[in-house]
Amino acid sequence: MINNDVSHLAGNPVLTAIRNRRTVREFLDTPVPRNVLERVIEAATWAPNHRITDPWRFIVLQHGDKARVEVAQLIHDWTLENIPNPNQATRRKSAESAQREILDSPSFIYVYSVPGDNEEVTRENYAAVCCAVMNLSLAAYAEGLGVGWSTGKPTKPGNLADLIGADLSWDIVGALFIGYPAHVPDRQPKGLDHCASWL
Ligand SMILES: Cc1cc2nc3c(=O)[nH]c(=O)nc-3n(C[C@H](O)[C@H](O)[C@H](O)COP(=O)(O)O)c2cc1C
Repeated sequence: MINNDVSHLAGNPVLTAIRNRRTVREFLDTPVPRNVLERVIEAATWAPNHRITDPWRFIVLQHGDKARVEVAQLIHDWTLENIPNPNQATRRKSAESAQREILDSPSFIYVYSVPGDNEEVTRENYAAVCCAVMNLSLAAYAEGLGVGWSTGKPTKPGNLADLIGADLSWDIVGALFIGYPAHVPDRQPKGLDHCASWL
């Protein structure tokens, strides 16, 4: 039986954030101030990264800006063309919903990883950027914000990088929806019996 009693650490802010952070995709309309967003991006850059490559790149698409509108349209069009559903009305609904989510999200950031000179470094860099996204998510939690990390439709079109000025060599790590939560879902991890073996 696993003892996961953490009462001796009650109130510890790191553990509280790790356990209570959830993926959020429903937000209040309240804008996220620029300095708050800068703080959570800065927190991301404290992530471990082998060889100190600082491989993360963040592209912030500001609310109402032309770039955000163009990206939302691109994702709409990609969805309409590519989701595998024979029903045209369903495809249109899905495309409109993907577009709307991008337009409405209080903050919206693309995250990329810069590849290395070889496969090993490229993999390390990608892993480091995933750590950076987690740092960003925990820092966002500390600010009262929620983050939704997507590797779905918002990341798919081949010409996305071109549109937002990302280097074509970079690997996309995700699109981040960020804002003050309107709804925070619940989730319990499966537990150590599911994932850990002790030899
Ligand atoms: C690499 C990565 C990609 C993800 N992509 C998506 C996505 O495309 N769509 C989505 O709804 N959630 C996505 N998520 C969020 C997960 O679904 C979420 O983390 C999971 O349901 C666990 O919930 P929690 O983050 O609240 O603990 C992604 C998470 C990670 C780590």
